[in-house]
Amino acid sequence: MKAYSIVIAGGGSTFTPGIVLMLLEHMDRFPIRQIKMYDNDAQRQQTVAEACGIYLKEHAPQIAFCYTTDPETAFTDVDFVMAHIRVGKYAMREKDEKIPLKYGVLGQETCGPGGMAYGMRSIGGVLEILDYMEKYSPEAWMLNYSNPAAIVAEATRRLRPHSRILNICDMPVDLEEKMARMCGLDSRKEMVVRYFGLNHFGWWTSIRRKSDGSDLMPQIREHMKKNGYMDGIPPQEHAETSWAETFEMARDVYALDPDTIPNTYLKYYLYPDRAVRHSNPDYTRANEVMDGREKTVFSECRRIIEAGSSANCNFQADAHASYIVDLAEALAHNTQQRMLLIVPNGGAIENFDPDAMVEIPCLVGSNGYEKICQGRIPTFQKGLMEQQVAVEKLVVDAWCEHSYQKLWQAMTLSKTVWSADVAKQILDDMIVANKDYWPELH
Ligand code: NAD
Ligand code: G6P
Ligand code: MN
Repeated sequence: MKAYSIVIAGGGSTFTPGIVLMLLEHMDRFPIRQIKMYDNDAQRQQTVAEACGIYLKEHAPQIAFCYTTDPETAFTDVDFVMAHIRVGKYAMREKDEKIPLKYGVLGQETCGPGGMAYGMRSIGGVLEILDYMEKYSPEAWMLNYSNPAAIVAEATRRLRPHSRILNICDMPVDLEEKMARMCGLDSRKEMVVRYFGLNHFGWWTSIRRKSDGSDLMPQIREHMKKNGYMDGIPPQEHAETSWAETFEMARDVYALDPDTIPNTYLKYYLYPDRAVRHSNPDYTRANEVMDGREKTVFSECRRIIEAGSSANCNFQADAHASYIVDLAEALAHNTQQRMLLIVPNGGAIENFDPDAMVEIPCLVGSNGYEKICQGRIPTFQKGLMEQQVAVEKLVVDAWCEHSYQKLWQAMTLSKTVWSADVAKQILDDMIVANKDYWPELH
C-alpha cells in the first residue's frame, strides 16, 4: 500500500499530539511515510513538535519527521494538509468571548459576534495555507477543521472555488457516538444518517441501523426528551462541566422540534439569554481551555522533552479525531464512505439558497465528494438557516470589501444580537481589539 506524506498546519495546536497518536493507530489502513508540522509561531510549535518527535522516534521510527515555519519546506512533497490553525490564538478567543458579554450578548468561539470576529481573522490564514499547498503540492488535499468552519468555508467557496479543500467538523461525529451509545451500538459507523444544516447549525432527520435499516429515531427521541445528550457514560472528549451543561441543554433545543435531533450549537441561537446568564464575563471558555487543555498539553510536552523520552506519557490518541483519517483514507483509497461535510448546497437542500455552504452527508472517494440530496426542509429550520447563512455571507463580504457597513449588518442580523446599537458597540470594540488581524474597515 502507498504510504502518504502529511503536513499538520497549526503544529503548535493543543490537538496536535492527539492527532499524531491517532494517525499512528490507523497506519494499517492509512500508511504514513512522513509527518511535517507547520506553524507561524516557532516557539509554540517547537514545544509540541519536539515532544511529538521523541514519541515518533520511539514508536514509528520509519516515519520521517520535521517541523518548520518555512512554507516551502512544509508544503513541498505532501499528499494531505491537515489544518487546525487558530489565528490570534487563545488571547484573541478570550476577547471574542468577553467583548460581547460586556454588552450582555453571547460570547462564544464560533457563534454570534465572537465567531464573526474569529472569522475575520481566520479567512486570511486559511487562504494562505491553501495557496501554499497549491504552490508546492498542487495535487494534495487540504482537510480543514480550522474554525469558524462555516465562515471559512464560505470564503473558500467564493475566493478559491476550484481548490482541493474539504471542510469538516467533529461535533456531529461526537454526537453520533452518543446516539450510538443510546441505542446500545458499539459505534456510530453502525448507523446511517440523514442530516441538513449549516456548520454548528444542523439537524438529524433520520437515523437507521446499517445492518437492517431499522429506525433508531424512536429510541433516540425518547432519550433526548429526558436527558438531551447526557448518556450516563463518561465522555472521552468534551468532558468538562461546561460541555456537560451543553449536552444537557440539548433537551430544550430538541423540545422545539421533536421530529428532528439537533446539533448542540443551536442552543446559542435559541436560548442566547440563558447562555449569557450562565457565563462569567471575567472567566470564559477561553480561560477554561488555557487553564486546562493548554496547560496539560504543554506541560506534558515539556516533561517529555526534559526526560528525552516519551515513556509513561499521558498523550491520548484523539479517538473521535479518527474521522480525519476516515476522510483522508476515503480520498486516498476511494472508500466511498458517507460523511458529513460542509459543501456548496447546489440543490442538495431543495428549498434553500444554492450558493450557501451547507453541512450534509456526502459520499467521499478519490474524485472528492458526491452530495446526498436532503430534499425540502421545514419552515422553522429554513427560516433560522436563512438568517444565519446571510450573517456568514455578510462577514465574508465585509472581509473582501473591507466594509464596516457589511460587518455591522452581519452583527445586527445575528439572532444572538437584539439591536443595531448593541451590534455597533460590540463591533467598534472588536475593531480595536483586532487591529493586528483584520483588514482595515471603512
Ligand atoms: P491552538 O491555539 O492551541 O492552536 C492553533 C495553532 O495555530 C497555534 O499554534 C497557532 O500559532 C497556529 N496558527 C495561528 N495562525 C496561523 C497561521 N496563519 N499559520 C500557521 N499557524 C497558525 O488552538 P486549538 O484549541 O488547538 O484549536 C485549533 C483549531 O482547531 C481552532 O481553529 C479550533 O477552533 C479548531 N477545532 C475545530 C474543530 C472542528 O470541529 N472543526 C474541533 C476542534 C478544534
Ligand atoms: C467542538 C466543535 C469545534 C470547537 C470545539 C471547541 O469540537 O466542533 O468546532 O472548536 O468544540 O472546544 P473547546 O474545548 O476549545 O471549547
Ligand atoms: Mn466544529
